[in-house]
Amino acid sequence: MAPNTQSQHSIRIRHLPEVSRERRKYMNCVVGSVCLCLLLALYRFWPKESAYRSLGDLWGHVDGNDDQARLIRRYNIHSSVRWMNPDGGRWRVMFVCNGESPCPTLYAQEGDLVELSVMSDIYAQSSIHWSGIGYNRTGSWNDGTAGLSQFPILPRGNYTSIIDTTGSWGLNWYAEHTTAASADGLYGMVYVAPSPVRPRPYRLITRNETKLRAIMEAENEIRHLAIKNHQHRDTGWKLLRMRAEGTEFHCYDSILVNGKGRVHCRQEAFDRVNGQKVDETGCVQPIGQLPGSCTPSNADYEVILTHGRDYIMMNLINIGFEHSLVVSIDNHKMIVVATNGGFVYPTEADVVYVPSAGRITVLVRLDAEPGDYAIRLSSTSQLQNLQGYSILRYPASRRPIYGEPMKLPEPSSPDDICVLPDGSTRGECSIIKGQDLPPFPPAPPPRSSYLQKSSADYTFRLRAGCRQSSTEPHVTEYFLNEQPWQLFRSSLTPLLFQDLHNSSSGNPVGKPVIDGIPIGSVVDLVIENDLNDTIPLYKHGDPAWLIGTEEHARFPYKDVEEGFSQTYVNNVLNLRDPALVTVHDLPPLGWAVLRFKVTDKAATMIHAVKLRYFALGMSAPILEGILPESPASFPMSAADRPHVDFQPKNDGVFG
Ligand SMILES: *[C@@H]1O[C@H](CO)[C@@H](O)[C@H](O)[C@H]1NC(C)=O
Ligand SMILES: *[C@@H]1O[C@H](CO)[C@@H](O)[C@H](O)[C@H]1NC(C)=O
Ligand SMILES: *[C@@H]1O[C@H](CO)[C@@H](O)[C@H](O)[C@H]1NC(C)=O
Ligand SMILES: *[C@@H]1O[C@H](CO)[C@@H](O)[C@H](O)[C@H]1NC(C)=O
Ligand SMILES: *[C@@H]1O[C@H](CO)[C@@H](O)[C@H](O)[C@H]1NC(C)=O
Repeated sequence: MAPNTQSQHSIRIRHLPEVSRERRKYMNCVVGSVCLCLLLALYRFWPKESAYRSLGDLWGHVDGNDDQARLIRRYNIHSSVRWMNPDGGRWRVMFVCNGESPCPTLYAQEGDLVELSVMSDIYAQSSIHWSGIGYNRTGSWNDGTAGLSQFPILPRGNYTSIIDTTGSWGLNWYAEHTTAASADGLYGMVYVAPSPVRPRPYRLITRNETKLRAIMEAENEIRHLAIKNHQHRDTGWKLLRMRAEGTEFHCYDSILVNGKGRVHCRQEAFDRVNGQKVDETGCVQPIGQLPGSCTPSNADYEVILTHGRDYIMMNLINIGFEHSLVVSIDNHKMIVVATNGGFVYPTEADVVYVPSAGRITVLVRLDAEPGDYAIRLSSTSQLQNLQGYSILRYPASRRPIYGEPMKLPEPSSPDDICVLPDGSTRGECSIIKGQDLPPFPPAPPPRSSYLQKSSADYTFRLRAGCRQSSTEPHVTEYFLNEQPWQLFRSSLTPLLFQDLHNSSSGNPVGKPVIDGIPIGSVVDLVIENDLNDTIPLYKHGDPAWLIGTEEHARFPYKDVEEGFSQTYVNNVLNLRDPALVTVHDLPPLGWAVLRFKVTDKAATMIHAVKLRYFALGMSAPILEGILPESPASFPMSAADRPHVDFQPKNDGVFG
């Protein structure tokens, strides 16, 4: 499996100049370990490239033909566990890939194939799902969603998936999608650089060729900021404690950027969130539960170096799975140029909103005085006041002082700060949400090919709600389509492999599954929210169009067609230039309409990306293009993989 790194390493040693025996021993040791580490790192991590004549060569099973030679990048991920203390507040066991969390950032260029081999050394079933990518030609059977399209990888097992990046570019995340192990560290990022021929919106920012070149350079050198809410306990422990005692399942200890950050505790003079009293951790505790205590830590912040350039481009990606955030940079404005849906019409703002699981790409003009500037990140949660920071550093502005904790830079005037410690935004600062920005170039939503002009072929009405568990006294269950889709379903036969004709094998079709939509159809999901909370929702597969949202209102029509003919909703339903999204916010007690077109046979889903809702059932699988008379095709090897045989005792959240 591995090349013989040992022999390569000893060859290097032989080239060392003559030195004393003692010294040589020492150097052998140091150089040897450095070489070995480098080789291991390179081997583990360097994408191995080779051209395949066709995709069929790889899998012996691919929809469609592709006779062009394609570049294939191979990555090996070895998942395991390790003690870590990223925020300096508490050592804990975390899930890691190749020894790191976040997992390594994968790279590809749009059009490449990526082969991702995962070898699991973790003690639970797991799978790796790559977000924001369609299933064109490689099929949906290896998309890494346990219970839908894949049997999870057993401990000591391995799995290889292949992803076609054609048409899907930008920074996305890959994460565990069997349980919620991504919350405990099993997550990483994948950057697919946009094809050179893809039109950029940069001419809408400037027409000056020198500046345009600088912007392209900033795109080539794009920096990724992976934002993660981190907790000192592991998720499984917290879930079981909540099950037993009714304790919180929504408090975190810090916000990390690229795995760095510190514990900040509740901000001074902010003892309430949304009218409710918070404890030292900034958290609202459930009624009758003890307040949590908090000790601040001194770990490092992530430092983003500007290298003396005129512009920096940054991907702000939120893989926290709970807290949606607002982000600002002292003394700098941000120009939003892309989201998970692709390029957008550039829009400048002081503050950007990054929903859980969402990504915003910003361009920043580096025209401030040389110095350090705080990047401020603050949660918009109604249940916790939580902040994180990073530093934007101009070169040669200051010497680092080793051995002292990093200082958070403060601007000369408080007016230069836009995101305030309570998660609110200073009055004069403008704020942008990605889900409000039209795609560039324009990409109007599809419409039914034979019905009226604003119609979809199918409309499904969903409702995000909750109910008391019938089996657990302290647990609330959540749902999106009448019934919860519990985590234990990850251990059952994936929907994709089930025979829809055979009712004796346990008919998979029934709430909460959405089905009966043939290839080519245009589908509207009209989603209403019974909860007084903003719920970020993620739909697997290609980005979808967000046709409208409204807070504190019911969707008063049968469907978009009826709504569109009425003046009242005309200004909230947008069929002209709605945003393309993989994640959107379902407003509190409000509604959202999401439209997508079924282009591939796939078992996808739409689910909440707040852990407490997701883990307790708020998901609805979607059988796209799969009908009893037109089943999905997949290699038998995928359906025959070793797996556990699990029978839930009852239908509760815990089975
Ligand atoms: C699938 O890929 C092929 C080949 O690149 C392309 O021609 C086709 O438009 C793609 N289909 C979709 C729905 O993206
Ligand atoms: C698992 O690993 C073995 C040994 O390297 C390899 O032969 C096999 O193809 C791998 N299987 C998958 C599904 O990746
Ligand atoms: C274009 O931008 C460069 C660098 O910012 C500047 O020096 C130059 O004067 C600009 N050219 C024009 C025509 O405005
Ligand atoms: C239906 O499913 C049952 C249970 O999985 C299986 O024993 C039976 O052979 C299946 N029948 C057909 C016609 O596939
Ligand atoms: C919903 O929450 C907001 C605060 O976020 C509160 O002002 C409002 O009264 C709540 N509405 C209902 C119907 O509970």
